[in-house]
Amino acid sequence: MYRGNADWELIGKVKNNPRIHIPIIGNGDIDSPQKAKEAFDKYGVDGIMIGRATYGRPFIFKEIRHFLDHGEEMQPLTLKEKVDLAKLHFTKSIEYKGAPRGVYEMRRHLISYFKGIPHFKEMRMKLVTTDEPEAVLELIDDIYKQFG
Ligand SMILES: Cc1cc2nc3c(=O)[nH]c(=O)nc-3n(C[C@H](O)[C@H](O)[C@H](O)COP(=O)(O)O)c2cc1C
Repeated sequence: MYRGNADWELIGKVKNNPRIHIPIIGNGDIDSPQKAKEAFDKYGVDGIMIGRATYGRPFIFKEIRHFLDHGEEMQPLTLKEKVDLAKLHFTKSIEYKGAPRGVYEMRRHLISYFKGIPHFKEMRMKLVTTDEPEAVLELIDDIYKQFG
């Protein structure tokens, strides 16, 4: 996984160089709607790209859109909404990539969806060791039953 800090001052300088006539898309370390807004307001970029912060939070783009449009944070997703989204995401991953690859690639996402839930260790272990897609979907349902 990518490490290090993006140099946004440099991105800003590139964007504001009068000889630059192409759109500048900034990328690096954006993990909140506030940072996304700063990228546009302070550094003037034409667009942003987000990598790591989408893990377990594919709705970050909706959160950013909401914050830019309304100046306030979107209502956080409920556990039920996260469970439903994680199941859809997982199902799409299997449709697109098949098993086991789709299962393996989803493990990091699933852990991130449910980060911060107290006493989640046992469930986390199951999520990263279960190979059968149907069994993983049942586990995701169990998250709501156990922690909802
Ligand atoms: C899963 C993943 C795969 C990536 N693959 C590449 C890659 O193949 N080539 C590359 O130049 N950067 C790659 N990156 C780096 C991203 O394009 C991005 O520049 C970096 O993650 C910083 O943005 P972020 O802070 O929003 O994650 C990858 C990042 C992630 C999270």
